Amino acid sequence: MKFAHVPVLVQEVMGLLKPKPGERYLDGTLGGGGHTEEILLRSSPDGRVLGLDWDEDAVTAARQRLSRYEDRLTIRQTSFEKAKNILTEMNWGQIEGVVLDLGVSSHQFDDAERGFSFQTSARLDMRMDRRQPLTAFDIVNAHPVAEITRILAEYGEEPRARRIAAAIATERRNRTIETTADLAEIVAKVKRRRSHGHHPATQTFQALRIAVNRELESLNVFLERGYELLRPGGRMVIISFHSLEDRLVKTAFRKWTQSCLCPPRTLRCDCGWSQKAHRLTKKPIVASAEEVRANPRARSAKLRAVVRI
Ligand SMILES: C[S@@+](CC[C@H](N)C(=O)[O-])C[C@H]1O[C@@H](n2cnc3c(N)ncnc32)[C@H](O)[C@@H]1O
Repeated sequence: MKFAHVPVLVQEVMGLLKPKPGERYLDGTLGGGGHTEEILLRSSPDGRVLGLDWDEDAVTAARQRLSRYEDRLTIRQTSFEKAKNILTEMNWGQIEGVVLDLGVSSHQFDDAERGFSFQTSARLDMRMDRRQPLTAFDIVNAHPVAEITRILAEYGEEPRARRIAAAIATERRNRTIETTADLAEIVAKVKRRRSHGHHPATQTFQALRIAVNRELESLNVFLERGYELLRPGGRMVIISFHSLEDRLVKTAFRKWTQSCLCPPRTLRCDCGWSQKAHRLTKKPIVASAEEVRANPRARSAKLRAVVRI
Protein backbone atom coordinates (compact mmCIF):
# COMPACT_ATOMS: atom_id res chain seq x y z
CA MET A 1 0.00 0.00 0.00
CA LYS A 2 1.37 3.41 -0.97
CA PHE A 3 2.29 5.59 2.02
CA ALA A 4 0.05 8.67 2.07
CA HIS A 5 0.26 11.44 4.63
CA VAL A 6 -0.15 15.19 4.16
CA PRO A 7 2.06 17.05 6.65
CA VAL A 8 0.35 19.79 8.69
CA LEU A 9 1.40 23.38 9.37
CA VAL A 10 4.48 23.08 7.16
CA GLN A 11 4.96 26.82 6.56
CA GLU A 12 4.43 27.57 10.24
CA VAL A 13 6.95 24.91 11.31
CA MET A 14 9.54 26.22 8.83
CA GLY A 15 8.90 29.83 9.86
CA LEU A 16 9.81 28.91 13.44
CA LEU A 17 12.58 26.41 12.76
CA LYS A 18 14.27 28.61 10.09
CA PRO A 19 16.40 25.84 8.57
CA LYS A 20 19.77 27.00 7.22
CA PRO A 21 22.66 25.41 5.31
CA GLY A 22 25.20 23.69 7.50
CA GLU A 23 22.78 23.15 10.39
CA ARG A 24 21.55 19.90 12.00
CA TYR A 25 17.99 18.96 12.78
CA LEU A 26 16.07 16.17 14.44
CA ASP A 27 12.69 15.08 13.09
CA GLY A 28 11.51 12.77 15.89
CA THR A 29 8.33 11.70 14.05
CA LEU A 30 9.51 11.20 10.49
CA GLY A 31 6.27 9.62 9.14
CA GLY A 32 6.22 10.02 5.36
CA GLY A 33 9.03 12.59 5.60
CA GLY A 34 7.03 15.71 4.66
CA HIS A 35 8.53 17.98 7.31
CA THR A 36 11.98 16.45 6.87
CA GLU A 37 11.94 17.02 3.12
CA GLU A 38 11.10 20.68 3.60
CA ILE A 39 13.93 21.06 6.14
CA LEU A 40 16.35 19.40 3.69
CA LEU A 41 15.22 21.69 0.87
CA ARG A 42 15.57 24.81 2.96
CA SER A 43 18.92 23.84 4.50
CA SER A 44 20.40 22.88 1.14
CA PRO A 45 23.17 22.16 0.15
CA ASP A 46 24.61 20.74 3.37
CA GLY A 47 22.04 20.90 6.21
CA ARG A 48 21.49 17.49 7.81
CA VAL A 49 18.53 15.71 9.37
CA LEU A 50 18.25 12.78 11.76
CA GLY A 51 14.78 11.27 11.23
CA LEU A 52 13.29 8.87 13.78
CA ASP A 53 10.12 6.83 13.62
CA TRP A 54 9.28 3.63 15.45
CA ASP A 55 7.05 2.42 12.62
CA GLU A 56 8.80 0.24 10.05
CA ASP A 57 6.42 1.28 7.24
CA ALA A 58 7.19 4.96 7.85
CA VAL A 59 10.93 4.33 7.86
CA THR A 60 10.74 2.33 4.62
CA ALA A 61 8.52 4.92 2.91
CA ALA A 62 10.68 7.86 4.00
CA ARG A 63 13.90 6.08 2.92
CA GLN A 64 12.43 5.57 -0.57
CA ARG A 65 10.91 9.00 -0.93
CA LEU A 66 13.98 10.84 0.32
CA SER A 67 16.65 8.60 -1.24
CA ARG A 68 18.11 11.53 -3.18
CA TYR A 69 19.12 13.14 0.14
CA GLU A 70 20.92 10.00 1.31
CA ASP A 71 24.13 11.82 2.20
CA ARG A 72 22.30 14.42 4.33
CA LEU A 73 19.64 12.26 5.99
CA THR A 74 20.09 9.57 8.64
CA ILE A 75 17.02 7.46 9.45
CA ARG A 76 16.58 5.17 12.46
CA GLN A 77 13.62 3.03 13.49
CA THR A 78 13.26 3.97 17.13
CA SER A 79 11.31 6.14 19.56
CA PHE A 80 12.14 9.81 19.92
CA GLU A 81 12.69 9.01 23.61
CA LYS A 82 16.10 7.71 22.45
CA ALA A 83 17.03 10.88 20.53
CA LYS A 84 19.78 11.98 22.91
CA ASN A 85 21.59 8.60 22.79
CA ILE A 86 21.46 8.53 19.01
CA LEU A 87 22.71 12.09 18.63
CA THR A 88 25.58 11.21 20.99
CA GLU A 89 26.39 8.04 19.00
CA MET A 90 26.45 10.16 15.82
CA ASN A 91 28.73 12.73 17.45
CA TRP A 92 26.32 15.50 16.59
CA GLY A 93 26.23 17.03 20.07
CA GLN A 94 23.64 19.77 20.44
CA ILE A 95 21.70 20.71 17.33
CA GLU A 96 19.92 23.68 15.78
CA GLY A 97 16.36 22.38 15.66
CA VAL A 98 13.90 19.70 16.68
CA VAL A 99 10.44 18.96 15.32
CA LEU A 100 7.86 16.53 16.68
CA ASP A 101 4.57 16.03 14.85
CA LEU A 102 2.83 13.70 17.29
CA GLY A 103 0.17 11.03 16.95
CA VAL A 104 -0.57 8.71 14.06
CA SER A 105 -0.08 9.17 10.34
CA SER A 106 -2.91 8.87 7.82
CA HIS A 107 -1.13 5.78 6.51
CA GLN A 108 -1.41 4.05 9.88
CA PHE A 109 -5.15 4.79 9.95
CA ASP A 110 -5.79 3.93 6.35
CA ASP A 111 -3.93 0.61 6.26
CA ALA A 112 -6.71 -1.68 7.50
CA GLU A 113 -4.28 -4.40 8.55
CA ARG A 114 -2.83 -2.13 11.22
CA GLY A 115 -6.09 -2.38 13.17
CA PHE A 116 -6.36 1.34 14.05
CA SER A 117 -9.67 2.02 12.38
CA PHE A 118 -13.28 1.03 12.90
CA GLN A 119 -14.03 1.86 9.26
CA THR A 120 -12.68 -1.50 8.06
CA SER A 121 -12.59 -4.72 10.03
CA ALA A 122 -9.18 -6.11 11.01
CA ARG A 123 -7.57 -7.79 13.98
CA LEU A 124 -7.34 -5.35 16.90
CA ASP A 125 -3.72 -4.23 16.84
CA MET A 126 -2.94 -0.46 16.87
CA ARG A 127 0.81 -0.84 17.41
CA MET A 128 2.89 1.85 15.72
CA ASP A 129 6.01 -0.18 16.53
CA ARG A 130 5.14 -3.75 15.58
CA ARG A 131 8.21 -5.05 17.44
CA GLN A 132 6.46 -4.38 20.76
CA PRO A 133 4.37 -7.24 22.16
CA LEU A 134 1.35 -5.34 23.58
CA THR A 135 -1.59 -4.86 21.17
CA ALA A 136 -5.12 -3.48 21.49
CA PHE A 137 -6.30 -7.10 21.36
CA ASP A 138 -4.43 -7.81 24.63
CA ILE A 139 -5.90 -4.79 26.40
CA VAL A 140 -9.46 -5.48 25.27
CA ASN A 141 -9.35 -9.23 25.98
CA ALA A 142 -7.16 -9.45 29.05
CA HIS A 143 -6.80 -6.21 30.99
CA PRO A 144 -8.84 -5.66 34.17
CA VAL A 145 -12.13 -3.83 33.65
CA ALA A 146 -11.01 -1.02 35.97
CA GLU A 147 -7.94 -0.44 33.80
CA ILE A 148 -10.02 -0.37 30.60
CA THR A 149 -12.38 2.09 32.26
CA ARG A 150 -9.44 4.32 33.20
CA ILE A 151 -7.98 4.19 29.68
CA LEU A 152 -11.30 5.12 28.05
CA ALA A 153 -12.09 7.86 30.55
CA GLU A 154 -8.62 9.40 30.66
CA TYR A 155 -7.30 9.06 27.12
CA GLY A 156 -10.61 9.11 25.27
CA GLU A 157 -12.52 11.45 27.60
CA GLU A 158 -15.31 8.94 27.00
CA PRO A 159 -18.25 9.77 29.33
CA ARG A 160 -19.58 6.21 29.09
CA ALA A 161 -16.24 4.59 29.86
CA ARG A 162 -17.58 2.46 32.71
CA ARG A 163 -20.52 1.14 30.66
CA ILE A 164 -18.33 0.35 27.65
CA ALA A 165 -15.74 -1.44 29.82
CA ALA A 166 -18.54 -3.47 31.44
CA ALA A 167 -19.94 -4.39 28.02
CA ILE A 168 -16.45 -5.51 26.91
CA ALA A 169 -16.16 -7.65 30.07
CA THR A 170 -19.56 -9.29 29.43
CA GLU A 171 -18.73 -9.98 25.80
CA ARG A 172 -15.31 -11.47 26.46
CA ARG A 173 -16.77 -13.96 28.93
CA ASN A 174 -18.56 -15.53 25.93
CA ARG A 175 -16.06 -15.07 23.10
CA THR A 176 -12.76 -13.45 22.15
CA ILE A 177 -13.13 -9.90 20.84
CA GLU A 178 -11.04 -10.35 17.70
CA THR A 179 -11.59 -7.44 15.38
CA THR A 180 -12.03 -3.69 15.16
CA ALA A 181 -15.58 -4.35 13.89
CA ASP A 182 -16.38 -6.53 16.96
CA LEU A 183 -15.22 -3.77 19.29
CA ALA A 184 -16.95 -0.99 17.33
CA GLU A 185 -20.21 -2.94 17.53
CA ILE A 186 -19.95 -3.40 21.32
CA VAL A 187 -19.32 0.33 21.77
CA ALA A 188 -22.09 1.31 19.35
CA LYS A 189 -24.61 -0.78 21.30
CA VAL A 190 -23.73 1.02 24.54
CA LYS A 191 -23.69 4.47 22.97
CA ARG A 192 -26.67 4.14 20.69
CA ARG A 193 -27.91 7.62 19.72
CA ARG A 194 -25.47 9.27 22.10
CA SER A 195 -22.77 10.43 19.70
CA HIS A 196 -22.79 13.84 18.12
CA GLY A 197 -21.77 13.74 14.49
CA HIS A 198 -18.94 11.22 14.82
CA HIS A 199 -18.78 7.43 15.00
CA PRO A 200 -19.67 6.27 18.53
CA ALA A 201 -16.40 4.31 18.79
CA THR A 202 -14.11 7.26 17.95
CA GLN A 203 -13.10 8.01 21.54
CA THR A 204 -12.69 4.34 22.49
CA PHE A 205 -10.36 3.71 19.55
CA GLN A 206 -8.36 6.85 20.25
CA ALA A 207 -7.97 5.90 23.91
CA LEU A 208 -6.79 2.37 23.12
CA ARG A 209 -4.31 3.66 20.56
CA ILE A 210 -2.79 6.05 23.11
CA ALA A 211 -2.55 3.25 25.69
CA VAL A 212 -1.09 0.63 23.31
CA ASN A 213 1.65 2.99 22.14
CA ARG A 214 2.33 4.59 25.56
CA GLU A 215 2.04 7.88 23.69
CA LEU A 216 1.85 10.13 26.73
CA GLU A 217 4.60 8.28 28.58
CA SER A 218 7.05 8.59 25.70
CA LEU A 219 6.25 12.27 25.24
CA ASN A 220 6.81 12.80 28.97
CA VAL A 221 10.19 11.06 28.85
CA PHE A 222 11.19 13.25 25.90
CA LEU A 223 10.02 16.46 27.57
CA GLU A 224 11.82 15.73 30.83
CA ARG A 225 15.16 16.94 29.39
CA GLY A 226 14.36 17.62 25.73
CA TYR A 227 15.92 21.11 25.89
CA GLU A 228 19.33 19.43 26.26
CA LEU A 229 19.18 18.44 22.59
CA LEU A 230 19.39 22.08 21.51
CA ARG A 231 22.40 24.35 21.35
CA PRO A 232 21.86 28.00 22.43
CA GLY A 233 19.62 29.60 19.80
CA GLY A 234 18.31 26.16 18.75
CA ARG A 235 14.56 25.82 18.25
CA MET A 236 12.01 23.17 19.12
CA VAL A 237 8.58 22.90 17.51
CA ILE A 238 5.97 20.40 18.70
CA ILE A 239 2.61 19.73 17.06
CA SER A 240 0.03 17.83 19.10
CA PHE A 241 -3.44 16.55 18.22
CA HIS A 242 -4.85 15.68 21.61
CA SER A 243 -5.56 17.92 24.60
CA LEU A 244 -3.56 15.69 26.97
CA GLU A 245 -0.51 15.86 24.70
CA ASP A 246 -0.86 19.60 24.32
CA ARG A 247 -1.09 19.98 28.10
CA LEU A 248 2.17 18.06 28.56
CA VAL A 249 3.93 20.24 25.98
CA LYS A 250 2.52 23.45 27.44
CA THR A 251 3.53 22.47 30.99
CA ALA A 252 7.07 21.44 29.97
CA PHE A 253 7.62 24.58 27.89
CA ARG A 254 6.35 26.70 30.78
CA LYS A 255 8.86 25.04 33.10
CA TRP A 256 11.71 25.49 30.61
CA THR A 257 10.94 29.22 30.32
CA GLN A 258 10.83 29.86 34.08
CA SER A 259 13.90 31.10 35.92
CA CYS A 260 12.98 29.46 39.25
CA LEU A 261 10.75 26.57 40.31
CA CYS A 262 10.52 27.43 44.04
CA PRO A 263 7.00 27.72 45.48
CA PRO A 264 5.56 31.27 45.40
CA ARG A 265 6.76 33.61 48.19
CA THR A 266 9.90 31.53 48.88
CA LEU A 267 12.40 34.02 50.34
CA ARG A 268 15.63 32.45 49.06
CA CYS A 269 15.68 30.39 45.89
CA ASP A 270 17.12 26.94 46.48
CA CYS A 271 15.60 24.97 43.57
CA GLY A 272 18.82 24.92 41.56
CA TRP A 273 16.85 25.43 38.33
CA SER A 274 17.83 27.96 35.68
CA GLN A 275 15.84 29.11 32.67
CA LYS A 276 16.43 26.91 29.63
CA ALA A 277 14.41 28.57 26.87
CA HIS A 278 12.22 31.44 25.66
CA ARG A 279 8.76 30.85 24.28
CA LEU A 280 8.30 31.50 20.54
CA THR A 281 4.51 31.00 20.64
CA LYS A 282 2.44 32.69 23.36
CA LYS A 283 -0.65 30.79 22.29
CA PRO A 284 -0.63 27.60 20.23
CA ILE A 285 -0.65 28.11 16.47
CA VAL A 286 -3.52 26.34 14.72
CA ALA A 287 -4.17 25.57 11.06
CA SER A 288 -5.84 28.14 8.80
CA ALA A 289 -9.40 27.50 7.61
CA GLU A 290 -7.94 26.91 4.16
CA GLU A 291 -5.55 24.19 5.41
CA VAL A 292 -8.36 22.50 7.38
CA ARG A 293 -10.52 22.49 4.26
CA ALA A 294 -7.74 20.85 2.26
CA ASN A 295 -6.64 18.50 5.07
CA PRO A 296 -9.30 17.91 7.78
CA ARG A 297 -6.67 16.15 9.94
CA ALA A 298 -5.15 19.60 10.57
CA ARG A 299 -8.29 20.64 12.46
CA SER A 300 -7.06 19.59 15.88
CA ALA A 301 -3.35 20.41 15.40
CA LYS A 302 -1.76 22.74 17.96
CA LEU A 303 1.78 23.94 17.52
CA ARG A 304 4.02 25.30 20.30
CA ALA A 305 7.66 26.33 20.01
CA VAL A 306 10.60 27.47 22.15
CA VAL A 307 14.14 28.71 21.53
CA ARG A 308 17.00 27.55 23.74
CA ILE A 309 18.89 30.16 25.71
C1 LIG B 1 1.70 12.64 12.35
S1 LIG B 1 2.85 11.45 11.80
C2 LIG B 1 4.23 12.43 11.31
C3 LIG B 1 4.15 12.87 9.90
C4 LIG B 1 5.39 13.56 9.36
N1 LIG B 1 5.66 14.79 10.06
C5 LIG B 1 5.29 13.80 7.88
O1 LIG B 1 5.56 14.92 7.45
O2 LIG B 1 4.97 12.87 7.14
C6 LIG B 1 3.41 10.82 13.31
C7 LIG B 1 4.51 9.76 13.16
O3 LIG B 1 5.18 9.72 14.41
C8 LIG B 1 5.46 8.39 14.73
N2 LIG B 1 5.60 8.37 16.18
C9 LIG B 1 4.66 8.62 17.11
N3 LIG B 1 5.19 8.53 18.33
C10 LIG B 1 6.52 8.23 18.17
C11 LIG B 1 7.60 8.01 19.05
N4 LIG B 1 7.46 8.08 20.39
N5 LIG B 1 8.82 7.76 18.53
C12 LIG B 1 8.99 7.68 17.17
N6 LIG B 1 7.99 7.86 16.29
C13 LIG B 1 6.77 8.14 16.79
C14 LIG B 1 4.33 7.60 14.17
O4 LIG B 1 4.72 6.27 13.91
C15 LIG B 1 3.99 8.37 12.89
O5 LIG B 1 4.66 7.82 11.77
